[in-house]
Amino acid sequence: MSQAINPKGARKYVAGTRAADWAGDYLGSTLGNKVLVAVTGLSLAAFVIGHLAGNLKMFSGRESINAYAYFLKHDLGVLIWVARAGLLGAFATHVALTIRLKLKTRAARPIGYATQKSAQASVQSKFMLSTGLVILAFTIFHLAHYTFCVIHPVEVNGVLVDYSQLTHKGKHDVYSMVVYGFSTPWISAIYVATQVILFLHLTHGLTSSLHTLGLLGRRFTPVARLAAYGFAGLVLAGNLTIVFAVWGGWLTLPSDVTAL
Ligand code: HEM
Repeated sequence: MSQAINPKGARKYVAGTRAADWAGDYLGSTLGNKVLVAVTGLSLAAFVIGHLAGNLKMFSGRESINAYAYFLKHDLGVLIWVARAGLLGAFATHVALTIRLKLKTRAARPIGYATQKSAQASVQSKFMLSTGLVILAFTIFHLAHYTFCVIHPVEVNGVLVDYSQLTHKGKHDVYSMVVYGFSTPWISAIYVATQVILFLHLTHGLTSSLHTLGLLGRRFTPVARLAAYGFAGLVLAGNLTIVFAVWGGWLTLPSDVTAL
């Protein structure tokens, strides 16, 4: 065994301690959990902005977005599965550790403060767990909608098909799929509401991740907040532009939609 019991109760490392022991203890600690939540949160934010950049190809035309989706699915080979596994791992770690930290805080302070916790705490910071769970629910809905295509069958030439059957020039017709999706009011309402929730989650999450990782100290809180609001605002505006472009008739259903 590479560690011994310290008579004072805390764990004491002796010669021969393996890095794995240290890493295990560090990552299991509250500080380690916070660092992991910050790192996975920043990775998910990077995915969200990358995903938005890809989605904006809707404005370059049907063939452009369809070719992009085809490239991701068919030309990247094993890399797409590595990226998906990384994304899933980051998502699961982020959610599990956030819940763990919340439970630890509750257990350490079961009675609660006599007065309201902090007059300064932002609305966002108080609702991080709830907004996070809404984003989790949205992601499950979104995968069922656009990746597994099991939510919303559509009628093409008198036949009811699912989105995965939409095709154009030998490729999946992602363009028509997105237009069909956002032409349906209840679906658009879910997307619009969730983008606002995502904005609130990102503004606080990014500010606090920058602090946790020591990238911007407390002195720079206004800078961190500005960066977080700028980033979250870009994601909100970008994603809503796609939904509103369908509503407003800028992105329209092509006249030659075909299903397999
Ligand atoms: C208006 C906003 C959005 C649009 C138009 C959109 C569109 C799409 C489409 C079309 C796909 C399927 C691509 C394909 O299978 O060919 C997809 C997949 C996905 N989207 Fe979104 N999305 C939006 C927002 C979001 C947000 C906010 C998140 C995260 C919280 C997200 C997470 C994902 C994930 C995880 C996938 C699966 C990626 C994969 O299969 O590798 N999306 N999205």
